[in-house]
Amino acid sequence: MSRRKIIAGNWKMNKTPSEAKALAELLKPLVDNPDVDVVYCVPAIDLLPVAEVIKGTNVMLGAENVSDQDAGAYTGEISADMLVDAGVKFVIIGHSERRQYYREDDAFLNQKVLKALEKGLTPILCCGETLEQREAGVTLDWIRLQLKSDLQGVTKEQAASMVIAYEPIWAIGTGKTATSDQAEEVCGAIRKLIAEIYDTDTAEKIRIQYGGSMKPSNCRELLAKPDIDGGLIGGAALKADFADIVNYNK
Ligand code: PGA
Repeated sequence: MSRRKIIAGNWKMNKTPSEAKALAELLKPLVDNPDVDVVYCVPAIDLLPVAEVIKGTNVMLGAENVSDQDAGAYTGEISADMLVDAGVKFVIIGHSERRQYYREDDAFLNQKVLKALEKGLTPILCCGETLEQREAGVTLDWIRLQLKSDLQGVTKEQAASMVIAYEPIWAIGTGKTATSDQAEEVCGAIRKLIAEIYDTDTAEKIRIQYGGSMKPSNCRELLAKPDIDGGLIGGAALKADFADIVNYNK
């Protein structure tokens, strides 16, 4: 079966609301590719201004985080209901920066995945190894552990709708991209793992992105691989380069 490619920008902690509006306006005429799903995952404060700019276009809105709780006394948190009401469709969960700097562990991330799915958001669930882990030859064991924990209690129908982003930590923001063969090896292994946890139908449906210094010069080779269904793009999502990646097939 052919899966629809999904190209998502992860803006991280960049762009004030007015800058975010300007970037969305700049990209607006450039990202109109009917063949791919296009998502901007933006800081919470930028969601509403960006939603306004992308209204009526093919671009969908994503958040960079979501609370594991429904509502109430959780100062500083943003709930799935709030995101849904703001027009958000996707949410990044388990990015390595949140795992590392904010100590989000797999048990907690599992709660976020379940909450997002319950409320109708599509998780973009991130996983990936450090350079030390790659050199020690434990990449696939590590990713297996992450995903098996993060997907506890997720049904196969829910899993089929999800996006998994394979992001080797050593390739994020470093300019060092995994080779297309390295990326395909892990994305293929993730698909096999999904088949093992669920079944081959679910594994055929789930979309797996590569993330880590993806840019116009390397996106075509990566996106040509059979198990790479898209990209999660950081640095290159903050400029017109993003449109070149969206239009990789033209
Ligand atoms: P990068 O970031 O494209 O800047 O490497 C990717 C990510 O962290 O999602």
